Amino acid sequence: MDVIIKKPERLKGEVEIPGDKSISHRALMFGSISEGETKIFNISKSKDCISTLNCLRKLGVEIEENERFLIVKGGKIKESEDILDCGNSGTTIRLLSGILVAHPFYSVLTGDSSLRRRPMDRIIKPLLMMGGEIYGRNNNTYPPLTIIGKKLKGINFKMEIPSAQVKSCVIFATIFADGETIIEELYETRDHTERMLKYFGGKIEKEGKNIIIKGNQKLKGKEVWIPGDFSSASYFIASALIFPEAFLLIKNVGLNPTRTGFLKVIERMGGNLKILNQKEISGEPTGDIEVCYTEKLKGVEILPEEVPNIIDEIPLIAVFASVAEGKTIVKGAKELRVKESDRIKAISTELKKLGADIEEKEDGFIIEGLKKLKGARVNSWGDHRIAMCLIVASFLAEGEVIVENVDCIDISFPEFFEKFRSIGVNFITI
Ligand code: S3P
Repeated sequence: MDVIIKKPERLKGEVEIPGDKSISHRALMFGSISEGETKIFNISKSKDCISTLNCLRKLGVEIEENERFLIVKGGKIKESEDILDCGNSGTTIRLLSGILVAHPFYSVLTGDSSLRRRPMDRIIKPLLMMGGEIYGRNNNTYPPLTIIGKKLKGINFKMEIPSAQVKSCVIFATIFADGETIIEELYETRDHTERMLKYFGGKIEKEGKNIIIKGNQKLKGKEVWIPGDFSSASYFIASALIFPEAFLLIKNVGLNPTRTGFLKVIERMGGNLKILNQKEISGEPTGDIEVCYTEKLKGVEILPEEVPNIIDEIPLIAVFASVAEGKTIVKGAKELRVKESDRIKAISTELKKLGADIEEKEDGFIIEGLKKLKGARVNSWGDHRIAMCLIVASFLAEGEVIVENVDCIDISFPEFFEKFRSIGVNFITI
């Protein structure tokens, strides 16, 4: 599906953000490995989370759904009769591998053509160190992955790549291992797994850069409320910032400090936003965000240590940096090249079509801010985040913008169009 974006006269109103994708994956997985029932409210309806849910069902986990919540009957994982299809979801394949490598049966995990190009050596290496038996295509690099579950042992693991998925994979494996694991993080990545393990009664500590996880843990099912997805909220935050006279109240958004670096970047650029009603639900901070139009955003420099905190929002920063005053420089973001698409190449190529002055670098980009962008036909590269970024970019363009191949938005945010329509944006599908 391709869309033409029709801007409203004004962008004003309230938006409630659906459940967080990262946290929903974890709630399903923790529920599956815990004794008893886990009740999950406000779970993400994203395709990625449906991939996790389907894999867990194939592994014998009973999951009941109704309109308000979902019940996971945990503690009974068994061998799947068929391969496990993780779809487009890196979180599904990497975190589930950490669980399956410790379960005494045979598993094969695969995914779509994008997932089958994404590096898995980053999880295979630590899992082999733990005594696991796991194989990947192309000399242990890519999916499909084959796993023969075994008893594992804890390890000392220094993370070379800042990745919450790798960290979480090792944490899940350690829950079933003998001894303890110490993970040393170079830069802090999102800590949803650590928080949820604690919330389910598990043992995990943080000492400086080290995360210490006890082995052989027994967890108990819980009631979990999933906060709104910060990354989904970011598209509304960005739209309000750049749309003349806009004002949006974005409600019930997860505000975990390991996810919200984007807000700090916006503040440095001079953006107008306010956080209201902060509280904690199920071990995660949440709140509302009020954003209004900022006529003059300033270019910023983003340093490598900030990158893990804003990893999914960097292409969106490129969008509004295209009209900020001065230069924006992003460094140390090579990880973006191995996401659902090569996001450095994708966003540079597509923003150039809209007239932006963006120079692609090996580990980021340099953008020289302009006054306006122009209309053009652009493409999502089949990547949900690139599709949503380009729709936001259309608000900066003087002519008509057509974004091709936007069905992929379902991967993380199936309510995207409905939510934008509710604040007056129209889409013509072609
Ligand atoms: C995620 C972690 C990040 C992020 C992805 C979701 C998670 O990936 O880009 O969208 O749920 O842990 P990496 O940890 O591989 O950077």
